[in-house]
Amino acid sequence: MKNNLKIAPSILSSDFSILGKEVENITSAGADLIHIDVMDGHFVPNLTIGPDIIKSIRAYTQLEFDVHLMIENVDRYIPNYAKAGADIITIHSEVSKDIIKTIDIIRQHGKKVGLAFNPSSPITILNQIIEKLDLVLIMTVNPGFGGQVFMEDQIEKIVSTKKIIDMSKKEVLLEVDGGINENNIKIVAESGASIIVAGSAIFKGNKDNYKLNIEKLRNYN
Ligand code: DX5
Ligand code: ZN
Repeated sequence: MKNNLKIAPSILSSDFSILGKEVENITSAGADLIHIDVMDGHFVPNLTIGPDIIKSIRAYTQLEFDVHLMIENVDRYIPNYAKAGADIITIHSEVSKDIIKTIDIIRQHGKKVGLAFNPSSPITILNQIIEKLDLVLIMTVNPGFGGQVFMEDQIEKIVSTKKIIDMSKKEVLLEVDGGINENNIKIVAESGASIIVAGSAIFKGNKDNYKLNIEKLRNYN
């Protein structure tokens, strides 16, 4: 299990004035995929990265772009993010009025589909749609900002999600996002996570520290 764990640095905590360079830095530091937090100021109280920025950093790495859409009117914007270079498009379960339709839009663009759950949201819908997904994202902070405190009460939800995935006929990735660091990654990984998102724990110090920061997460104990 430990060796299969993928680390997805969230560039929300990187230096935006040199974003392309930061994507390059984190790639050479050993990231497995690049997590990109898209916020619209409506679904969450913060504004971040639009499709043009994603397009402009696409050439800085060969790694997959794991695009986490924390936005409303998601059906309208999926095509823009797909064309900008997203590989995985994760939408929030709370925003889509017709999740199956939204999933189909992502598929029509040839992208992998993720479904995210806020800490207060139930995951019961997964029982019906797990086989349509490539990834489930469990939030361990309320989305909107990097650097928040990990919510331990979400561990049970990670375990339940893992059970639903295991019972399905499909290989679905289980991503966990929010407040993860070297002190709590063990419980997250052992609860069944296959992708760990981390922003502030990875982009701390200067670029020479990124490799060690990733290694500390990977070699948790
Ligand atoms: C929160 C974002 C996270 C966040 C992670 O809304 O979805 O990806 O940037 O940052 P840390 O690891 O600092 O909580
Ligand atoms: Zn995220």
